Amino acid sequence: MQTDVLIVGNGAAALAAARFLPKNMRVLIVAKSGEKSTAKRGEGGSNNTDLAQGGIACPIDENDIESHIADTIKAGAGRCDEKAVRTLVTRGFDLIRELCALSLPFDRDEKGGLIRAKEAAHSKARVLQVQGDHSGFFLRLFLLDQLSAPQLYGAVIDLLIEDDCCYGATFFDGEKMENIYANRVIIASGGIGALYASTTNEPLILGELQGIAAFRGLTLKDMHFTQFHPTAIDRKDSVQKPLLSEALRGAGATIIDDRSRRFLEDYGENELSPRDRLSRAVFAHIQSGRKVFLDLSAIEPSLFRSRFESADRLAAKYGLKPPISPAFHYSIGGIAVDSNAKVLGVKGLYAIGEAASSGVHGANRLASNSLLEALVFAKIAAENIADDFSANGDIKIDPIGAAALNGKDDQTALETIRQTLWNRFGVVRQKSAMIEGKAILESLEKGDLGVLTRRSLLTAKTIANCAIAETQNVGAHYVKKETD
Ligand code: SIN
Repeated sequence: MQTDVLIVGNGAAALAAARFLPKNMRVLIVAKSGEKSTAKRGEGGSNNTDLAQGGIACPIDENDIESHIADTIKAGAGRCDEKAVRTLVTRGFDLIRELCALSLPFDRDEKGGLIRAKEAAHSKARVLQVQGDHSGFFLRLFLLDQLSAPQLYGAVIDLLIEDDCCYGATFFDGEKMENIYANRVIIASGGIGALYASTTNEPLILGELQGIAAFRGLTLKDMHFTQFHPTAIDRKDSVQKPLLSEALRGAGATIIDDRSRRFLEDYGENELSPRDRLSRAVFAHIQSGRKVFLDLSAIEPSLFRSRFESADRLAAKYGLKPPISPAFHYSIGGIAVDSNAKVLGVKGLYAIGEAASSGVHGANRLASNSLLEALVFAKIAAENIADDFSANGDIKIDPIGAAALNGKDDQTALETIRQTLWNRFGVVRQKSAMIEGKAILESLEKGDLGVLTRRSLLTAKTIANCAIAETQNVGAHYVKKETD
């Protein structure tokens, strides 16, 4: 099979890239799930975009651009690429206006003005939503409605890379393995969440493309900056935990313990502290033997119905004071790219959204900057492809035929990866535990593993290596002393 542009993934970044590519290009999307949108409004489905509750951070007006840039850099704890942040916010400001003109139905007040939510570490309320806390779901529906590219469902097994040029990908549709040749490939396959034992992410998100990139010699950057969300529902029966959006705290929800105490002050924090610090405070309190809850009772019932339908549904199930705990939420690191979203060290390959490390999030992502990043860098990649398009010459690469898709140790290995990352590369880390964790991950290599489990394992090992190599406590990476 041959196409002009092959896009891997079908979340916001992938669909936006397809939308912004020139209409005369042949575009093909390959993704893991087959349904148009399997999520039931905030209850999960095929990709993380469907689950995104917060919305899209965007400067209120031109005067707010510098402040949004400053908030992003401050949250990023000194590790942002400042040029990339400026691109994110300035291009994002224009792009949101473009999307308004395309009739993306952002929530508006009775006078027609955009409603903006407040989230942690933003100096102002600037987060735009689409149908309140179903923002990701409705953004994706909007993009799907504009989509003309065909979608195939199955799994990408490999990237076709030879002589530092990417020629496509090997794809398994559930029955047969084949090479899809493409003049340009965009990786928009999301993060790594389900490699952690506790996550707000979709269980399908296993960091396979990051592992494939690393296997093919490409650089993964900042993989230890794994962001934890402080307010996921502490439900023990599944890896995936329902998220309670930061916007709830922006609207007055408080964090309390089993003595009904607002304890965050003990840790020098408050409900709107950056999420790395807040996650550590909640985690430390749980470690000290307390239970922690999000108290939703201060939120007006009418606001629940109009702005927080997901939370309303969760409150119906778990009560107005649901038990919470931090859970893995977002992979800040990813496949290293340049300012045009081109993957470093290889021609014809792009990475965007959570799969990429564009430098905009530094060591700790500012809330709701991720959908903005997905849209902005999708547009940048699409523009770059349009400006710089050329057809690859004829090439024939043998698919990775020898690799078995499944191994008998896959499930045990995945469970061990999850426990190892969660316990040893989690909210709070320790040097000795990380070194042991790395050895546990390495020992899994001897098992009978299918090719994709092997790639997920490589991603997990890269997280371990980056974390062990980091010399500072910064943003989402926090190592406590052995004696603490
Ligand atoms: C949230 O709604 O709390 C999540 C938003 C985000 O991850 O940016």
